[in-house]
Amino acid sequence: MELREPAVVVALALVLVLALCPPLCSSQTYVLTEAHGLGRTFDGVGGLSGGGATSRLLVNYAEPYRSQILDYLFKPNFGASLQILKVEIGGDAQTTDGTEPSHMHYENDENYFRGYEWWLMKEAKKRNPNITLMSLPWAFPGWVGHGKNWPYDFPDITAAYVVNWILGAKQYHDLDIQYVGIWNERNYDSKYIKLLRYTLDKSGLETVSIVASDNLWEPIVLSLLLDPELSRAVDVIGAHYPGTNTVKDALKTQKKLWSSEDYSTFNDEVGGGCWARILNQNYVNGLMTATISWNLVASYYSDLPFGRDGLMTAEEPWSGNYEVESPIWITAHTTQFTQPGWTYLQTVGHLAQGGSYVALTDGKGNLTVVIETMTHDHSVCIRPPLPSFNVTSQNATFQLKGSFASIKELQVWKSQFNFKTKKSSFFEKLAPLKLLDGSFTLELAEDEVYTFTTITTGQKGSYPDSPPSARFPKVYEDHFNVRTPPFSEAPYFADQTGVFEYYINMTDPGPHVFTLRQVVTERPVTWVADADQTISVIGDYQWENLTVTCDVFMESVRTGGVFIAARVDKGGQSVRSAKGVFFWVFADGTYKVTNDLAGETVLAEGQSGTRAYGWHTLSLTVKGQYAVGLLNGYPLWKNAVVLSPKNGWAAIGTHSFELAQFDNFAVVAEY
Ligand SMILES: *[C@@H]1O[C@H](CO)[C@@H](O)[C@H](O)[C@H]1NC(C)=O
Ligand SMILES: *[C@@H]1O[C@H](CO)[C@@H](O)[C@H](O)[C@H]1NC(C)=O
Ligand SMILES: *[C@@H]1O[C@H](CO)[C@@H](O)[C@H](O)[C@H]1NC(C)=O
Ligand SMILES: *[C@@H]1O[C@H](CO)[C@@H](O)[C@H](O)[C@H]1NC(C)=O
Ligand SMILES: *[C@@H]1O[C@H](CO)[C@@H](O)[C@H](O)[C@H]1NC(C)=O
Ligand SMILES: *[C@@H]1O[C@H](CO)[C@@H](O)[C@H](O)[C@H]1NC(C)=O
Repeated sequence: MELREPAVVVALALVLVLALCPPLCSSQTYVLTEAHGLGRTFDGVGGLSGGGATSRLLVNYAEPYRSQILDYLFKPNFGASLQILKVEIGGDAQTTDGTEPSHMHYENDENYFRGYEWWLMKEAKKRNPNITLMSLPWAFPGWVGHGKNWPYDFPDITAAYVVNWILGAKQYHDLDIQYVGIWNERNYDSKYIKLLRYTLDKSGLETVSIVASDNLWEPIVLSLLLDPELSRAVDVIGAHYPGTNTVKDALKTQKKLWSSEDYSTFNDEVGGGCWARILNQNYVNGLMTATISWNLVASYYSDLPFGRDGLMTAEEPWSGNYEVESPIWITAHTTQFTQPGWTYLQTVGHLAQGGSYVALTDGKGNLTVVIETMTHDHSVCIRPPLPSFNVTSQNATFQLKGSFASIKELQVWKSQFNFKTKKSSFFEKLAPLKLLDGSFTLELAEDEVYTFTTITTGQKGSYPDSPPSARFPKVYEDHFNVRTPPFSEAPYFADQTGVFEYYINMTDPGPHVFTLRQVVTERPVTWVADADQTISVIGDYQWENLTVTCDVFMESVRTGGVFIAARVDKGGQSVRSAKGVFFWVFADGTYKVTNDLAGETVLAEGQSGTRAYGWHTLSLTVKGQYAVGLLNGYPLWKNAVVLSPKNGWAAIGTHSFELAQFDNFAVVAEY
């Protein structure tokens, strides 16, 4: 339903309401005032790049599309206008949708130009110099754990490793990281947290705050209450998927409470509904002052786990197609009219007939009110499941008191989810609302979001529609000679175990000076179960019939092994059970064809004469139920029978965590 305006109508309605109530109507009055004190300080709304490799494909978009996507995410007064960017500190391991490279693959190795998180932080900062930067490890290179799948046995090594990343951010990219976490959704160790605090301080990073523990409220809350030294080390309690609720003991700690990872919901209209409810009710129910979406932008192959669980979708760099989804505009309802450092009023809460409202002020007279009336069916967040509740249409009167009583005009922004007609409208600017006596009455329908604000700078930014969606090119090749700085990865390759990065062999007389090299030589301290092999996937998940060709170079004498593959059906946290057609050659002079990455289902095997430190050309053709393989242009095996999977990505990889190189990768697919 519509806003009751202009002012005369509001006044008239109020008179009527006063005259006829209480017998006839259910209008409820909500007072907004700072007269009895303020609430907590607002810290912002953010997005999370990582956990893992969720921005992988974004970097390969051509201009102007890549900048447009970044504008929708970060540019103030344009789209989501995000106030926080949280990134993964890459640990060379699989962390949900891929691996992100570490700044220290090996103990005496340091490189602050790998991956894309540095670039992303700089792009965000370019658009919004005030953006808050946070960082968190999911996994660590194997040497950090000294061979154990545990990062706390040598806490000084782990702390130095993390602090190096923060120092590198400043030294090489002039990025000030303001928050750092412990170990995503895994155990913390109090001794480690204290040592991290000590190491930060000793490194001149006293202003970097620690968030703990990026998991549930407990047991970190209890540890903080029992251990004053730990409590001094930790600045923010970050909980994941809190379902808008906190626990009593968390309030007792007096710490800032954040939902440091939330949302994780498919980004259609319903996704925006979930996000609207979370953004208001994380404060109303849980006094959380920051909320961070997993993930920032769905820029990974959508057949990987949690496809399209981002604020928007940008998963087709080859076509330029991207989709700005409802969560972008729902974010704008809060972010375009607040800044971190504003304060919530104490007068926030639930609406009588369902929904919620929050109000924030800059302490200088500005006021922003966000109201949502999302119904149960249309605001389903994937986790945690939502108890059922009812929302019905209702009249609501907001009475501005205290210093806000003198506000004469409010800007009005509205989103309306209409699931029946599919004609939702998002972030529309309505006529400003004139206030007579500091109050306004609304007839609120179901599934609406409103912002009322004194801030006049809001804008619904837009670019022309992005190019039409298209499948990955049927014919694709990469010789790894042409590189796009500053990225260390070849376009579209999505590492699922191990790290594949550009390599230059200056002593090679040619033609293999520029190659792609797998560089992880030891099993990492994992987050989910990485495979025992390394693998990077590429292309179109629907590919059935295709030829994959690649030059390969093993660097492990005797024990080395490499593969090329087609129809690879799994990645992400399920990578260990990936099936497909895998053509392997080994440094001991043998080959194998297997139906799975683990190498348990052997379709063919025999002698190949392959060895380390020499280049070999592998070619694999899969058509219908048959596969054939060539070595250096000559048939090596044929008629291997492949019953399943029917389709999947192309891939390259190694038999273990070992160095190996790839060159002249090519795919020709039929469809
Ligand atoms: C950055 O913060 C300052 C101080 O709060 C504010 O005046 C300025 O408008 C902000 N800039 C942007 C781009 O948000
Ligand atoms: C509100 O904020 C604006 C800047 O966005 C500022 O110019 C103005 O003085 C503030 N106060 C009021 C009451 O609008
Ligand atoms: C929602 O409304 C229905 C119908 O009036 C009622 O049966 C149900 O108990 C209500 N549910 C809640 C959670 O209030
Ligand atoms: C809201 O108030 C108007 C005017 O009094 C009335 O016509 C309308 O039915 C009310 N709506 C609800 C949902 O109570
Ligand atoms: C680099 O190229 C030289 C000359 O071809 C070769 O002997 C050497 O093994 C290569 N090294 C690596 C690490 O690829
Ligand atoms: C793949 O090849 C088989 C055998 O020739 C054929 O039956 C099937 O339709 C092809 N699939 C596609 C998607 O072209």
